[in-house]
This record gives sequence, structure tokens and C-alpha cells, in this order.
Amino acid sequence: MGPSLVFLGAGNRGLAYARHAHALGARIVAVADPRPERLQAFRQAFHVEHTFRDWREALEKPQLAQAAVVALPDRLHAEAAVALMEKGYHLLLEKPIAPTWEEVERVAQAKARTGRMVAVAHVLRYTPYAQALKRLLGEGAIGEPVSVQHLEPVGHWHYAHSFVRGNWRRERESSPFLLAKSVHDLDWLLFVMPGEVRRVASFGGLFHFRPENRPQGAADRCLFCPEEVERACPFSARRIYLEAYERGERGWPLDVVAYPVTWENLVKALGEGPYGECVYLGRNDVADHQVVMLEYQDGRTASLHADLTAILHRAPGTAGQPGG
Ligand SMILES: NC(=O)c1ccc[n+]([C@@H]2O[C@H](COP(=O)([O-])OP(=O)(O)OC[C@H]3O[C@@H](n4cnc5c(N)ncnc54)[C@H](O)[C@@H]3O)[C@@H](O)[C@H]2O)c1
Repeated sequence: MGPSLVFLGAGNRGLAYARHAHALGARIVAVADPRPERLQAFRQAFHVEHTFRDWREALEKPQLAQAAVVALPDRLHAEAAVALMEKGYHLLLEKPIAPTWEEVERVAQAKARTGRMVAVAHVLRYTPYAQALKRLLGEGAIGEPVSVQHLEPVGHWHYAHSFVRGNWRRERESSPFLLAKSVHDLDWLLFVMPGEVRRVASFGGLFHFRPENRPQGAADRCLFCPEEVERACPFSARRIYLEAYERGERGWPLDVVAYPVTWENLVKALGEGPYGECVYLGRNDVADHQVVMLEYQDGRTASLHADLTAILHRAPGTAGQPGG
């Protein structure tokens, strides 16, 4: 029999990991989430024995499984991770470990104290291309890398979805952009060129998604925007979500906007919720471009450049396809 698991957070990541774990033979024993429709999805798909409306309720029970998957919002990671380890669970902990250094240290101390295994979901290094690149580098295919330039071109519609309208739009409610998004790329850099980093410099900020860049005549919601303004806007929610639905898309990011994904649920969400808002309302504060420079102990260097490159290379009005 496969390992037994408890899921804290049944959102986008929780459900995705549960599907994989289930397909690989794991037993999903319990799930916690305040949203009844997500608990129902778990019940139906995995026949879980226990459902809870809050992660703390799951911790009130004796240890229910060998390991727990922490797929909670960023700000809840540290407290849950420490409590789970104290209870005896090994962890798959979603990134970021936590949004503050003090919390990261608390998680590290709990890990040392309890001897539990903690895997942080830095998923990029496990992709086939990263594994292939690592193997080639290990074989010396291009000699020894001394300096790496890494570009992270975030799709403009992905950025608007997650970092202007979505969960990661405000730093105090989630994490800074670098931690929320580029943490994968920084992990990837250290994976392909390991070493001790001596110095780091980073600059970035919010440049584009500000009220002063709002097109003239734009409404507060895309569904109510004049057609000529909406059609010219690459961030139109109608374009990103409703047209994706019409093309037959049903997965991410549509299932974040409305669950279950139906036309009626999507239209309602765009009419009332954050995913239908104009991207120029000024309700976001995380960076939309950032650079990082790393200097290793032995003098090697690396740089990361994260921005919305895609928009510079796409004609306005040609939104990308939703996807990973
Ligand atoms: N590894 C990756 O590539 C990757 C990608 C996206 C997100 N993430 C991370 O995964 C985590 C989850 O992100 P997501 O996209 O699934 O977000 P999400 O909003 O879809 O899921 C979070 C879930 O936690 C639930 N929740 C909130 N408070 C709770 C509580 N007190 N008890 C139990 N459940 C609670 C929410 O209802 C929601 O369903 C975040 O930390 C995010 O940064 C990682």
C-alpha cells in the first residue's frame, strides 16, 4: 500500500498534487479547506475519510497519516508546518517556506528538532528539461559554467491573473513577487550551477500596472468596458477567461476564477470578483519587473531577469493560451 497523506489546502495546488499522489498509489486520508466545493471535489475523487474546514481542526486529531501536503496560502505556511512536524508528519511544503525570514527560521528549527523530512515544492528542478540540462552539464558538455544569464518571461496574462488580480497581488497578504514567482528560478539557478553565494543584489518595482496607465474610457470591470477599449487591451478578462472557455479550456486559470468551471460561474465571477477587474485600478503592489545578481564564493556569477517580456513581443490583443 502507498503512503498515506493529509492535505491542508484543497485549492489549485492541493488538488493537482492530490491527483498525482492518488495516481501513484498514495492514500489520501484527510483534507482541510474552508471552501465546501473543494472539499466535495476531494471527497468525490479520492474517497477521503476526514474533511475539515480549517487546517487547525486536522491538527486536533491524532496523527492521521505519514505525511502532509501544505498547500495553504503563503501566510499560513509556517504555523502549519511547525504544528504538523510537532505532530509527527513529514511534509511536502509548498513554496515559499514562509514570507518572512523569522518564520523560515522557525520552520528550520522545527525540522531540526523533530527530525521530520521536509520537501519544499521547488518544482522547476524536477522538470525533464532541467534534469536533462543538469545531466549534460555534469557530463561536461559545455565545460564548466562560470556565469549564467537566466530569463524568466512571465506571460502577460499569467502576470495579470496572479499578480494584479489574484492571490499574489499584495505583498502583505502573500509574498513579494520574487518569493512568489522567481523563487523557482532562483532555485533552478542554484540547481544548474550549485555553490555558496557570497553576495546578492536585486532591483525591481511596479512600473506598468498603475492607475496612470489606465486607457482612456476604460471601465472598472472588463465586462462593462467599451468594446473598442476592451478589444485593444491584452489584459481583458473577457479575452483571458471567457474566450478561453469558448476554445474549450476548463483547467487553470479558469478553475481559480470559478469552480466548478461553467460559463455562468465565470460570468458571475468576472462581474463581481477580482478576476473581472481592470488591471489599472491600483489594487496591486508587487513588482512587475525585477533583476537579481548573484556572486558566488569562488567568483562565479549569475543573473536573473524577470519581467513581462511576452507583452513586448506580442501585438496587443493576442492573449496567450492559459496553461502552466
Ligand atoms: N510550486 C508551484 O509551482 C506553485 C504554484 C502555484 C502556487 N504555489 C503555492 O502553493 C500554495 C497554494 O497556492 P494555490 O495556487 O493552490 O492557491 P489556492 O488559493 O488555489 O489554494 C489555497 C487553498 O487554501 C485554502 N485555505 C485558506 N485558508 C485555509 C485554512 N485556514 N485552512 C485550510 N485551508 C485554507 C483556500 O480555501 C484555498 O482553497 C501557495 O503558497 C502558493 O504560493 C506553488
